[in-house]
Amino acid sequence: MTGLHHMLVHFPEAFWALATLMVLVGALLSGRLAELSRAALLPVLALSLLGAIAAIVSGFLVWSLEATLHSPLARNHLLMALWSLGVYALLAVLVWRAGPAAFDGARRWALVILALVGALLFAATGTLGGHLAGAPTAFSELLRLTGWEVYTTFYAPTWAVAVMLLIALGAAVLGYRRRHRAGSGG
Ligand code: HEM
Repeated sequence: MTGLHHMLVHFPEAFWALATLMVLVGALLSGRLAELSRAALLPVLALSLLGAIAAIVSGFLVWSLEATLHSPLARNHLLMALWSLGVYALLAVLVWRAGPAAFDGARRWALVILALVGALLFAATGTLGGHLAGAPTAFSELLRLTGWEVYTTFYAPTWAVAVMLLIALGAAVLGYRRRHRAGSGG
């Protein structure tokens, strides 16, 4: 069964890497390749989410939650996997809802920021998985330089969570007001 997880994780990792590249090409370049990247992004994101769900389900089937939560390394791996899923799911919803206008004007920067954050998170997921499987990489050293110690449970300080919530609330209020103004023709 362990081999199943090892095999399935390649799908989200590869599709997330491809989706990130497509967002960057679609947002920063022009021409045929950029057009193709923008047009094919949603199917690639959908496949990445299916792959991620399969990888997560396989993880839960193979290792008990109790065992996973007992080790800081495995806890961090699970945390990063779920955060990666969340960020790419958000990206997929934005691209799906905006349709062909997803890359218009300043909107593209929201996609670029999400894709870059997602890339950092899925790289951390993979590198922690490698640690668990006994194959650490130099990427952990890079994480360590930024203050993320892979053997200690990752956490966000309360003030950081409060700032994130305030930003989310501010973005929701801004979006609501814009939509309201557009609806009333102002
Ligand atoms: C998007 C979800 C996930 C991704 C992308 C992912 C990625 C990985 C990767 C790349 C490896 C290393 C495999 C290798 O070296 O061949 C790995 C190993 C591992 N993963 Fe995940 N993983 C995910 C979800 C989970 C979940 C949900 C759990 C537990 C509930 C889990 C537990 C483990 C464990 C325990 C190992 C070590 C395997 C071993 O000892 O051989 N993973 N994972």
